Amino acid sequence: MKSRQPELGKLTTPALLLDLPAVDKNLVKMSQFLSGGNCSLRPHCKNHQSPWLASKQIESGAIGITCATLEQAEILAKYGIKEILIASEIAGEAKIRQFVDLSKRTEVIVAVDNVRIVSDMARLARNKKATLSVLVDVDVGQHRCGVQPGEAVIHLAQSVVEHGLLLRGIMGYEGHLQHAPPGAEKDSAIRACAQLAIESKSLIEAHGIACPIVSAGGTGTYSVMSQYSGITELQAGTYLAMDNSYFRVAPEFERAFSVLVTVISKTGNQRIVVDAGKKSLSGERGLPLVKSLEEVELTALHSEHAIIELRDGAAPVEVGDRIEIWVEYSDPTVQLHRRMYGIRNGVVEEVLKLGE
Ligand SMILES: Cc1ncc(COP(=O)(O)O)c(C=O)c1O
Repeated sequence: MKSRQPELGKLTTPALLLDLPAVDKNLVKMSQFLSGGNCSLRPHCKNHQSPWLASKQIESGAIGITCATLEQAEILAKYGIKEILIASEIAGEAKIRQFVDLSKRTEVIVAVDNVRIVSDMARLARNKKATLSVLVDVDVGQHRCGVQPGEAVIHLAQSVVEHGLLLRGIMGYEGHLQHAPPGAEKDSAIRACAQLAIESKSLIEAHGIACPIVSAGGTGTYSVMSQYSGITELQAGTYLAMDNSYFRVAPEFERAFSVLVTVISKTGNQRIVVDAGKKSLSGERGLPLVKSLEEVELTALHSEHAIIELRDGAAPVEVGDRIEIWVEYSDPTVQLHRRMYGIRNGVVEEVLKLGE
């Protein structure tokens, strides 16, 4: 144990906990799954947002880290993480300037889906003598960002090259399939997305432009996406610490996140109230489950309170007890905390600062 770590029993609640042995197992599971194949891992860090965890992923074989924003990329770069992919578009002169500056300090790639942004990037990079790396973002069915497969892909790729940016490849993130129930139907939908990405790459190459990277995949699709011939790297990231919403579709990974809370009220044997609500637990994908008690149900999240019904009146819980709640949706839950406490054998082993 590090000498100045707080005691688990004295942490102020609500506190975001991370089960470190579970993280270790998830790291091994993913690297074993990918070993021997042709698909690398550049995991998305948006859910844990911790450079320390990102470094663990790199130590276990990841070729870089994916993130969603320039700010996340800057934090990663500050901690010496290289080969960063911002798997989202940026727009506006201030952001582009920020990206140009970051590109001068580290290897970073950003997704593009717009010719005007490409031209703005080229103009702003020229002034700073920077080479900017981009991936053409292809909409393979999520209908968020990305150009449509086909003519628009080649048009954008040609524009990237003509403007003197470095085309590193394409990405085609199938976000709409991540939480679909496992089965043959899901697998064939994932393969159809992969095929759209591969066809986009072939189209670019048929026009004489190199397109080495084909990036896709999340925790709910990694096992099929990574096996599809031609997909060169995976963006899956939540596998590392998981959450309950992903556990339903990828139960081979262990849930490492929980929130430690204190029981602040008990009404007969019917219900308890704990000191954590929407300000420390996201209910966006459904209400979180209680980890450490049987026969109970969290039925409501208020701002600072959660109501837990005691289905079995004999539940051994009293005011002042500390219990744990599983994290249902990790991205917005982690966002609500400033510290994450890495626990091993009932002891706080790491205190991880978030968003710094
Ligand atoms: C662009 C992009 N890539 C990949 C992912 C998958 O990451 P995860 O495995 O954490 O769901 C996401 C998730 O939102 C994403 O937005």
